[in-house]
Amino acid sequence: MAPKLNDPSLFKTDVCYVNGEWVKAGSGKTFEVHDPATGKLIGTCPEFTAKDTDNAIAAAATAFREFRTKTGRERSKLLRKWYDLMMENSDDLATLITLENGKPLADAKGEVNYAASFFEWFSEEAPRVYGDTIPAGVPGNRVVTIKEPVGVCGLITPWNFPAAMITRKIGPALAAGCTTVCKAPGETPFTSLAIAELAHRAGIPKGVVNVVTTLNNTPEIGETLTTHPAVQKVSFTGSTGVGKLLMKQASSTLKILSMELGGNAPFIVFDDADIDTAVAGAIASKFRSSGQTCVCANRIYVQKGIYDEFAEKFAEKVRAFKVGNGFEEGITHGPLIHDRATSKVDDHVKDAEKKGGKVVVGGQKMPDLGSNFYQPTVITGMTKDMAIASEETFGPVAGLFPFDTEKEVVDLANAAEVGLAGYFFSRDLERITRVAEALEVGMIGVNTGLISDPAAPFGGVKQSGFGREGSKYGIEEYQNIKTITYGGMGKPMQGS
Ligand code: SIN
Repeated sequence: MAPKLNDPSLFKTDVCYVNGEWVKAGSGKTFEVHDPATGKLIGTCPEFTAKDTDNAIAAAATAFREFRTKTGRERSKLLRKWYDLMMENSDDLATLITLENGKPLADAKGEVNYAASFFEWFSEEAPRVYGDTIPAGVPGNRVVTIKEPVGVCGLITPWNFPAAMITRKIGPALAAGCTTVCKAPGETPFTSLAIAELAHRAGIPKGVVNVVTTLNNTPEIGETLTTHPAVQKVSFTGSTGVGKLLMKQASSTLKILSMELGGNAPFIVFDDADIDTAVAGAIASKFRSSGQTCVCANRIYVQKGIYDEFAEKFAEKVRAFKVGNGFEEGITHGPLIHDRATSKVDDHVKDAEKKGGKVVVGGQKMPDLGSNFYQPTVITGMTKDMAIASEETFGPVAGLFPFDTEKEVVDLANAAEVGLAGYFFSRDLERITRVAEALEVGMIGVNTGLISDPAAPFGGVKQSGFGREGSKYGIEEYQNIKTITYGGMGKPMQGS
């Protein structure tokens, strides 16, 4: 079932983008990609192997020799052109996202804007890479630093943002002068491939951007990217478990790593918060992409003085959601990515119910719509022994935990092994400063549930990983600092 695109040539089936060309897997094998809303076949993609990926790495290594010598301004122009093409083709890219990921079309359009904004941002960063002049400690020496691209980068991206996660990695890599091999997610490869086609049209030199696909050979390709001697850096967005495995593999060649891993975001509402603002923030944070983002609120802590009012207002908003196929008018929430996701969500709901939680909205699968749909759910009376307290649900379930004191809730929030995003709502400036400094996370939303912005550093602490994406720091993840020491510079001036 080919998608209806304004430009059908953006829909690439059975081919990957390697060395500026569209190529099939060496074995000729393909895998199927299905629409999570309907279960229908969208198309097939090459089942790449380690050997196919080696070709992409070789192309990136060759391209690096030339690409690294381009000026920042030249790389900036390429990224800007790519950004323009993404915006010109935003309707088609959004269609592909909704088709393979399931998120409602309006959200998919939002994602395309967000994704393209990383090319725009890093097109602006590329010409502004500066080194330092450092006062030397040794008489007669002069010390300067320059920043150099690290080399070939292996980029492994997830299905929850089929466009934005690839651009958030490729943008800074290219701005720094690196070349890339991106492993697209098996669930949502067509968006990545369409973006690769736009790279081609933007005139990105061959070999600089390579996009490979696989479903069944994912571990093999992950291993190739993390162990190949020609790859200098790996950037991964995905689960903490897979991140640990990749890190272990990457130790054999000491790769530079960026790991954007799982979260279990605490979302805290204090008695002094504006309740309507907090409800709106919780809706935005918890139910964005049906709860399938790493920064979604996972544990919603509400202080006892406002618990009932918050729960009532929050539940009322959730009851108004319209779940269905993301292409249909008025749909606010689409399916989850696959039935393993709905099963995990259901397990978390059942676990909470068994331990005394009360489901006040939803709580069921939606077989009438399809096997990947789950009712947006609100559970009250949550306690810390429930699975949601310690595991990321990655689905549309909001568990509301009551708490008494600031100290108690900060301790609960920090009890997680991970620390990606956190949110809290308060109108007390002293508390805002105190709690923002106390929470063990990489990013905090204060009185907002939405923190994603190309200008803001994105990344976590603890077992949510390390490295920062986007922002002025993002490009540094793709650069080495080289120190140049000039000796014999302190001789006296000649002549009288
Ligand atoms: C993620 O879920 O990993 C990314 C979310 C975002 O960029 O907002």
